[in-house]
Amino acid sequence: MAGEVENNLIELNLNQNKDDIVDPWTVTSSNETGIDYDKLIKRFGSSKIDKELLDRFEKVTGKKVHHFLRRGIVFSHRDMHTILTNYEAGKPFYLYTGRGPSSTSIHLGHLIPFQFCKWLQDVFDVPLVIQLTDDEKTLWRDLSLEEAHKLAYENAKDIIAVGFDVEKTFIFSDVDYIGQRPEFYRNMIRIQKCVTFNQVKGIFGFDDSTVIGKIAFPAVQATPALSTSFPDIFKDKKIPCLIPCAIDQDPYFRMTRDVCPRIGFQKPALLHSIFFPALQGAQTKMSASEANSTIYCSDTPKQVKNKINKYAFSGGQATVEDHRKLGGNCDVDITYQYLKFFLEDDDKLEQIRKDYSSGNLLTGELKKILIDILTPLVQEHQKRRAEVTDEILQKFMTPRKLHVDY
Ligand code: TRP
Repeated sequence: MAGEVENNLIELNLNQNKDDIVDPWTVTSSNETGIDYDKLIKRFGSSKIDKELLDRFEKVTGKKVHHFLRRGIVFSHRDMHTILTNYEAGKPFYLYTGRGPSSTSIHLGHLIPFQFCKWLQDVFDVPLVIQLTDDEKTLWRDLSLEEAHKLAYENAKDIIAVGFDVEKTFIFSDVDYIGQRPEFYRNMIRIQKCVTFNQVKGIFGFDDSTVIGKIAFPAVQATPALSTSFPDIFKDKKIPCLIPCAIDQDPYFRMTRDVCPRIGFQKPALLHSIFFPALQGAQTKMSASEANSTIYCSDTPKQVKNKINKYAFSGGQATVEDHRKLGGNCDVDITYQYLKFFLEDDDKLEQIRKDYSSGNLLTGELKKILIDILTPLVQEHQKRRAEVTDEILQKFMTPRKLHVDY
């Protein structure tokens, strides 16, 4: 049995398909339309979010599903039906997500999983734990532990600005929290005891020259999926966990799901989102380290406007005459792709798609629509971030009981 599990994990190794590279460190596609997500579902062995699941979502919650779900931005899952079945039966669950703090300001792509988490928290009224992996970033990047730790607190302000309920949300830096609660470290060891070097090599591509901090890190990212790692919130109760994340984080949770039943925990359920494309095109995701491919949540209105006008890859034609005649290609047009993320109104979006495809709407006009949506979005984010005082930050990041009944 152990052998079977091991093979299974190794077989799921990433990047056998050379067109698309998807792992926690690299996301690239040779295709203009970006990653082939249907292929990825097959390769990773997850399930596509289909109409049946969306209908169940709406039936169980009594609310229209989020536009990320309606538009295939959150496109894949593991065990979401189990979460819904339990929820219907009045059994609780909690949400777990995270972020690796690698730059002072987060960008538009970082907002996506957090906006989605906020929606889930509001709709299901459940607690949320957010792991800031300052340990991960100092191990992988050219950052000192102190710098990574500082960035964790900076990023926490951005996350709080998304609007989480302080009574139901715990944000923690690994560097701080792991030393504060022995329960977390105990679960880490239980997980570490179950995973061989051979397995993490297969899953993450580690080799003999990889520093041992990296080799041990997957257990750190797995541990928040065990509710007993948070005794202040859950005491010693085993509560099922749902993890919304971008699909590149799935390798960590394939490992987690393999280990959980062996140490007496239910496998965490997952909801996967697609990547937020770079301004230059869907071949790569938006990255904080490439200023010209990225719109930061700290950008000024002028920067937002200039970046979109100058860099957003266009699916339009080279001349106005050709564009009127042939129309634009929404599948590769980054401005249109961003509207899918940020324009909530389905009818408006569909009208824009038709107008752009037919050539009625020009690229400059399409870009203006996006600029008019993103400018207030970024400005409001900055305003809410400025309102996060040290006191509020401390409250979110202090281990404490949350307002939930267990
Ligand atoms: N490894 C993730 C990153 O680099 C951070 C992370 C930790 C995370 N735990 C998570 C992301 C849970 C999603 C869900 O960004």
